[in-house]
Amino acid sequence: MAMDAQSAPLVLVEQQGSTAWLTINRPEAANALSRALVARLRAELSELATVNMLTAVVLTGVEGKAFCAGADLKERLAMTLDQTRAFLDDLGGLVNAIADFPRPIIAAISGAALGGGLEIALACDFRLADTSARLGLSEVRLGIIPGAGGTQRLSRLCGMAVAKQLVLTGQRIDADRALALGLVSSVVPAGELRAAVTALATELGAAGPLALGQAKRAVNQGFDRPMAEALIVERQCYEVVLDSEDRNEGLRAFAEKRPPRFKGR
Ligand code: COA
Repeated sequence: MAMDAQSAPLVLVEQQGSTAWLTINRPEAANALSRALVARLRAELSELATVNMLTAVVLTGVEGKAFCAGADLKERLAMTLDQTRAFLDDLGGLVNAIADFPRPIIAAISGAALGGGLEIALACDFRLADTSARLGLSEVRLGIIPGAGGTQRLSRLCGMAVAKQLVLTGQRIDADRALALGLVSSVVPAGELRAAVTALATELGAAGPLALGQAKRAVNQGFDRPMAEALIVERQCYEVVLDSEDRNEGLRAFAEKRPPRFKGR
């Protein structure tokens, strides 16, 4: 297991029913993305991707002070340009792994979600925040630009005007503003985030795990395509669930008036 200077795990992993919680654990660096942390998150996701019965992953930051303050700027200072390019590739790989993860991923945002931290949240399927959340793509203020999909995902999620507002000004917005812009789906009082996320995860837990993966894939891969192509994508995803044990169990359970016992296959 990758350890930080103090030998603490960089990512805490916790199972809660059919939900896995991944908690970024670098409180001394506002949970900034070091190279080791990016690698650890990718490794944890690869492992979770093999768990049939999983119905959701929650991504959050330790102690609720920061979700993630973006790239580790102290580490960056000592990196060559080629090392920085390699980091961008790795971070891009992590963000894509989140977007393509075969189950829903919920970002539970408390405190700062800045730069790469917000880009990670943008790749998640749900973003819930508490009132302490501060969100921004602050890169231009450092003389760079978002490099892990932020310029593209924000405009797709919230529209071009919102993307230009945040990307070009680098401003930080509070949770209520993020809610008004559609950047987060709900805002709860500090201390109530875990309960709110658990309620959403519990709802997802009632679904067939395989269905969750294919429903996510259908929405993601159909988006941006012409309707006729998008409907073909949807049908391809349907085919996967059509020929599944979960589908048969769902029908049987309905007929027998009982809750289904899905297996995620
Ligand atoms: N990389 C490396 N270290 C970071 C960091 C980052 N992105 N963000 C914060 N830290 C470190 C701070 O340097 C500080 O370490 P120190 O105690 O050794 O000085 C520690 O985390 C706590 O940060 P601090 O600023 O003291 O806490 P805060 O609660 O007042 O503010 C932030 C937290 C995240 C709002 C603030 O640190 C910040 O704005 N960070 C920069 C975020 C940023 O611009 N990210 C975009 C990257 S492209």
